[in-house]
Amino acid sequence: MNIDQNIENIVVFTGAGVSAESGIPTFRDMGGLWNTYNIEEVASPEAWNTHPQRVLDFYNERRLKALAAEPNDAHRAIQLLEEAFNVVVITQNVDDLHERAGSTQVIHLHGKLRNARSTVDAKLIYDFGSRPINWGDQCTKGSQLRPDIVWFGEEIQNFNLAAYHLLKAHRILVIGTSLSVYPAAWLLDFANNHAKKIIVSMDLAQEPDEFKWIRAKATEVVPGIVSEWINSLGR
Ligand code: OAD
Repeated sequence: MNIDQNIENIVVFTGAGVSAESGIPTFRDMGGLWNTYNIEEVASPEAWNTHPQRVLDFYNERRLKALAAEPNDAHRAIQLLEEAFNVVVITQNVDDLHERAGSTQVIHLHGKLRNARSTVDAKLIYDFGSRPINWGDQCTKGSQLRPDIVWFGEEIQNFNLAAYHLLKAHRILVIGTSLSVYPAAWLLDFANNHAKKIIVSMDLAQEPDEFKWIRAKATEVVPGIVSEWINSLGR
């Protein structure tokens, strides 16, 4: 990662709410995915072992919808921070809207929808774009491909790297997460004691210590916070 020692480090930590205004449903709000689908039936190793086609269908549909969505003003504002700061985006989201808004350092905790992953070697990852993963699609070692998604009961990706960036951050902006899924939500315990900390979310399962909570839609307030932070440098 590119880190300039002379400028402040910013961590932007996001969840489904940052993509909600791009038309991608969240998980736990009214009309959220986990109100429509049973988590265990589509997002668990047990589901994959008992009815893989249903799991593939679920994620093939998610992949198409995510690829059809466009970054919104919040994703774009987060990208603008790179003009003035070292910025690392840590996201629980499996869409690629941060990358498509131009953010260059994005750490995914729960995987990526557009990727397919080998079931025998997790390092074998293939970019499928919006294409479906079909039963019978194999990795170079001859095993079935699965969605590169962290299912319930599986290990989160990049936890230590994310914790490292939170420890070094001078400013932390959390956007659009209910903070109800662990271990991702624990990461905020690593937030640097001296960092300026803001959370923008319509709702929260828990209010993290030392964060200023702004209860608003991401596109309504994130561009303003970004301008304020850039202007605060007085350049
Ligand atoms: P949730 O659905 O749990 O929470 C979304 C949060 O965004 C809620 O607190 C909403 O109030 C808020 N919200 C909704 N619209 C918003 C908007 N326009 N602007 C700002 N905030 C808004 O989603 P996550 O916290 O991301 O994991 O969920 C975490 C994990 O649970 C996901 O990564 C996923 C899910 O199971 C996996 O699939 C592994």
